[in-house]
Order: sequence, then structure tokens, then C-alpha cells
Amino acid sequence: MRDQTGPRPGVEWAVGDLTDAAAVRAALVGIDAVFLIWPLLDSAPAHDLVTELVAAAPRVVYLSSTAIDDEAARQSDPIVQVHADMEALLRNAGLRPLVLRSDTLASNARGWAPQLRAGDVVSGPDMARTAVVDERDVADAAVAVLLAQHNPLDYEPHLLTGPEVLSRTDQVALLGAALRRRLRFQAVTADVARSRMLTDGRPERLVEALIAASMRRPESNHTTDHIERLTGRPAGTFARWAVDHAAEFS
Ligand SMILES: NC(=O)c1ccc[n+]([C@@H]2O[C@H](COP(=O)([O-])OP(=O)(O)OC[C@H]3O[C@@H](n4cnc5c(N)ncnc54)[C@H](OP(=O)(O)O)[C@@H]3O)[C@@H](O)[C@H]2O)c1
Repeated sequence: MRDQTGPRPGVEWAVGDLTDAAAVRAALVGIDAVFLIWPLLDSAPAHDLVTELVAAAPRVVYLSSTAIDDEAARQSDPIVQVHADMEALLRNAGLRPLVLRSDTLASNARGWAPQLRAGDVVSGPDMARTAVVDERDVADAAVAVLLAQHNPLDYEPHLLTGPEVLSRTDQVALLGAALRRRLRFQAVTADVARSRMLTDGRPERLVEALIAASMRRPESNHTTDHIERLTGRPAGTFARWAVDHAAEFS
């Protein structure tokens, strides 16, 4: 969602669809570095964007996923597959992207707000444990690599994780501590989760991708110090994120 407060002084917005080559071309004028997010479920529509990037030749920083398995022929689920395909597309185009592979964003918890306004239970599909990362740290890491003068950074992906590996139950309990409420996570079956998301109006393809992720994505059970190496500060905890965002859940 776009920031309703508008751009900060000295910042100019160019608003457009990532799949619209003309909009991308216009946005790239005078730009020397790009932080690329590709939130689509297919990499095919990115070909025109990559053509525009090659022509404009900026530094490209791509936000990917720690769930990529570099040894696997196919990734665990469609969302991770798109990131693997995008990394390959950017690399094969000669763009030498700097890749930030992020673990699960803390901001996903915002999706629980409607349930928590109605009661003390968060229910949803269970997911493997992940090293939940504060999206503010991901943004700071992205700024660090975008602004690096000479490039001291190699082209190996940076693995951005939070400081601890958490289950959904852990996250809901930490959120409860921040809200001073006793909250609990209740896992539902894939069928229940699917029909709820469809009833909420989510596109079927996205729903299937999310269900596949919940069922097939393996646990990401290790943390890294890459946030600290890039930003100079240790990664923030989910408990801190929960305190800072408590007002959004009441
Ligand atoms: N969430 C995670 O845990 C996680 C972890 C690792 C990597 N990632 C990756 O990080 C990226 C962002 O994730 P997210 O969870 O923050 O996604 P999100 O909440 O779905 O946000 C996606 C953003 O992209 C915008 N968008 C969608 N289609 C667009 C298009 N065709 N052109 C321009 N903008 C478009 C959306 O704008 P509107 O709101 O206006 O539609 C929204 O601002 C994704 O690529 C995701 O796979 C996410």
C-alpha cells in the first residue's frame, strides 16, 4: 500500500505497474540504483522490466527469499520458485544483482489484526518455524547496499534473518506480551485455510501458493549476522516489532 503521508522532501515518486514497460522506463530516468521487489506469482512478465533495466544499467538490489534451495531443481512452492527464477533472470541478463534473501517478514503479523480486534485467538495454517525478520532491518540493509560507494560487497546473496527462530505459536505469544493480553495460536487445516482465504476474496492462485508454502516450505532454522554486517546494528527481535506496532492491533 502506498504511504498516505506522501513522499519526504527531496523524494520524488513515480507510480506505475511493474509489468508496464513504459512506466518502468519513465521511472528509471536519472536513476543509478534500483531496489527491486517482484511480488507477482510468475517471473514471465518480468522480461520487459529486465530489458528496461539492462538499457538503464542501474545497480540492482533484488529482494528475494531465504527459502531458496540453491541445490534444488525446483523450489518448495511457487513463491520461492518465482524468486529463484527472478534471481536467474537478472543474473543471466548480466545485471549482476545484489541479492537480499529475506526470511519471513514480521510485517506478515499485520494480517492477524482483524482477528485480534475480535478476540484472543489467531487461527490460520501452521507454518514451519522461521527466523522472523523486522522489515525495517531489511529496508536498512537495502539502503546500505544501494548506497555503498565502492562495492565492498560480494555478489553472494545476503541472508537476512531475525535473531531467533520462531513458530507461529511463539509469535502470537510475543505479540500477546506486547499487547498485555493472553493470546493463542490455533492451527487450522489447509482446507479450512483455503476456503477462508477464498471467502475473503483473495485470488485463487495466490491462495494455492500460500497453502503450498504452509505445507511444503521447510523450517528455516538458522540465523545470520548479515543484517548487522550490512547496517552496523544487530537485527531486531519480533518482541521489539510487536511493541512498536502494538497500536495497530487494538
Ligand atoms: N512477506 C514475507 O515474509 C517475505 C519474505 C521474503 C521475501 N518476501 C518478498 O518480498 C516482497 C514483498 O512481500 P510482502 O509480503 O511485503 O508483499 P505484499 O504485502 O503483497 O506487498 C506487495 C507490494 O507490491 C505492490 N505490487 C503488487 N503488484 C504490483 C505491480 N504489478 N506493480 C507495482 N507494484 C505492485 C503492492 O501494491 P498494492 O498494495 O498497491 O497492491 C504492495 O505494495 C515479495 O516479493 C515477497 O515474495 C516476502
